[in-house]
Amino acid sequence: MKFFIDTADIDEIRELAATGLVDGVTTNPSLIAKTGRNFLDVVAEICDVVDGPVSAECVATDHETMMKEAAKLSAIADNVAIKVPLTPDGLKTCKALTDAGTMVNVTLCFSAAQAILAAKAGATFISPFVGRLDDIGEDGMQLIADICDVYANYDFATEVLVASIRGPRHVVVAGQLGAGVATLPPNVLRQMFKHPLTDKGLDAFLADWAKTGQSIL
Ligand code: E4P
Repeated sequence: MKFFIDTADIDEIRELAATGLVDGVTTNPSLIAKTGRNFLDVVAEICDVVDGPVSAECVATDHETMMKEAAKLSAIADNVAIKVPLTPDGLKTCKALTDAGTMVNVTLCFSAAQAILAAKAGATFISPFVGRLDDIGEDGMQLIADICDVYANYDFATEVLVASIRGPRHVVVAGQLGAGVATLPPNVLRQMFKHPLTDKGLDAFLADWAKTGQSIL
């Protein structure tokens, strides 16, 4: 299971990449807007820090302009994955880009039917947004189960990238379902390290060790 980090904050990316657990990064226009920085500069910096796929999203809605934006974004680094929305023009762009060997992340997926279209368009990644479905009273992880089921029947190259994750439980269920990638907000990756018994156990071990008066070094 690969972990991407869902942020455009370069300091967070540097810190979390240092754990050795980060396989890529996803950004979106809202995350870029939060930084207050130039989009192209931010993507270039992220690509310097992380070797794996870095998703950078087109903001045009028509195929022709998306292709132009994709060319500009792809020129930043070899590991840029172009993000396109799940629309007819987005999938047309996806097909053209993947045919030419560019990685594409199809975003804003909210149904298994949409995920089938993305796979047929040759998407490298399909991004179903589980948290936003939960937010409206639907079951986001059921969508992941449905997509994994359908994809398992074919030899689609598309990886399921679980997006809009709200907590560690989403990550665990994504793993149980066999999703290839989870994109984690930084706080969720940090939460995954935590268990009160780990802290309690470590305190007890260190207290007992101190009583021995020994030192390893
Ligand atoms: C994924 O690529 C998206 O950037 C992200 O996961 C959206 O998450 P949100 O619903 O928390 O905004």
